[in-house]
This record gives sequence, structure tokens and C-alpha cells, in this order.
Amino acid sequence: MQIAIDGPAASGKGTLAKTLAMKFGFDYLDTGTLYRAVARDALAQSVDLQDPEGQAEALCQIAHNLVLPLENTDGLRAAEVAQAASKVASLAAVRDALIAKQRSFAATPPSGHGAVLDGRDIGTVILPEADIKFYIDADIAVRARRRHLELSVHDDSLTLAEVLADLTERDARDKNRATAPLIPADDAIFIDTSEKNAEEVLQLVASLVEERQ
Ligand code: CDP
Repeated sequence: MQIAIDGPAASGKGTLAKTLAMKFGFDYLDTGTLYRAVARDALAQSVDLQDPEGQAEALCQIAHNLVLPLENTDGLRAAEVAQAASKVASLAAVRDALIAKQRSFAATPPSGHGAVLDGRDIGTVILPEADIKFYIDADIAVRARRRHLELSVHDDSLTLAEVLADLTERDARDKNRATAPLIPADDAIFIDTSEKNAEEVLQLVASLVEERQ
């Protein structure tokens, strides 16, 4: 079974995807980590991300070299890596380099039972034939509070206003890019998590998945 989960940053899609996969014994791929890894490695190699188009070849090479499962996950959650990830993710060549890796994971998940992929274009581009698709969203203020709480464990200098600005900028870039923009697939089930906790979202989604099995 292939489950596609898309949505903006801090909408709750990652927590949902991870717990859903555990509940059903499926494998989980957080596709954001691929773009984050390309961005992290590009920053480490001093690739100039002010002009991602001009650096397409170097970025594409980094993307091609990624092997799943990612061995090195250090630094992926840093705020500057998230911003850089959304810049590299706007390049068609980088996205193309990652398509086959994501599809291959979904087609042959290690458990052999099923795969849950979360990201921005899973239902629209990566797995248009997924068995079930969800689009997870929440109010921007709620998402900023969630992400601020998560990031402040590692960096207590980060303010709520900075996190809100980061999410707003990244959402705009992700929704307005020419290649694989963040939009709900026509057949996605829309869930607003603004007033739901993680357990409530999981129960709701799990019951819908059970109906499709
Ligand atoms: O965890 P969060 O939702 O903040 O971000 P993420 O899922 O780790 O993704 C980081 C960035 O990678 C996003 O802002 C997108 O620009 C990009 N991304 C993408 O373009 N397509 C995906 N399937 C996943 C992530």
C-alpha cells in the first residue's frame, strides 16, 4: 500500500506519517530530509545558494549522490538548512534527480508491506497512483507555535516571530515555484489540524486508511 501525505511546514504531516507507518507496520520516508540533505551538503561545500539556478549542476550532482536510507542526518533540522532546502527544491534538475529514489522506496519498502511518504508533491508528482492521499494543513500561527516549540529545544535564541517569518517565506516559495508546487492533489483528503492533537489526527487518518485496505 502506498500512502501520500503532503502539506506545508509544521502542519503535523511528519508526526502523522511516522505514527501511521508504525501503526500499520509500513515504512516511512520523510522526503523533506532529501532536500534538506542536498541543502546541508551544498552549504558545507560553499555552493552559492543566492543563485540556485546558476549552481544547478553542482546541486544536481549532490542530489544524485544521495543514497537511501540517509546515513548522515546531522544538522538536517537546522532553520538555515530548512530555508536552503526550499531554495534547492525549486530547481527542476534537483527534483528530477530525487524522483527515482522516492519511487523506488515506495515500490519496494524494506518491510514489504507498504510505504508512507510525506512531502510537498507526493500525491501530485511522485505517487500520482497512491492508494490514498492526504493534504494536511493548519493555521499559520498554530504551525509557527509548533515549530518554535520544536526548534527551541536546540536553539533558545530563536523567537516566535522569526519562525513565523521563516514559515511564511518557505510556504510562499514552495507554493509558487514552477516545478511541483505545493498544492493538494485533486483526490487528496484535506485535514486541518489546527484544533486537533496528534493522536486525534492519527485516529482519523488510520480509520480512513483501514477503509481502503
Ligand atoms: O519539516 P518541514 O515541513 O518544515 O520541511 P520538510 O518537509 O523537511 O521540507 C523542507 C523543504 O524541502 C520544504 O520547504 C520544501 O521546499 C522542500 N520539499 C519539497 O520541495 N518537496 C518535498 N517532497 C519535500 C520537501
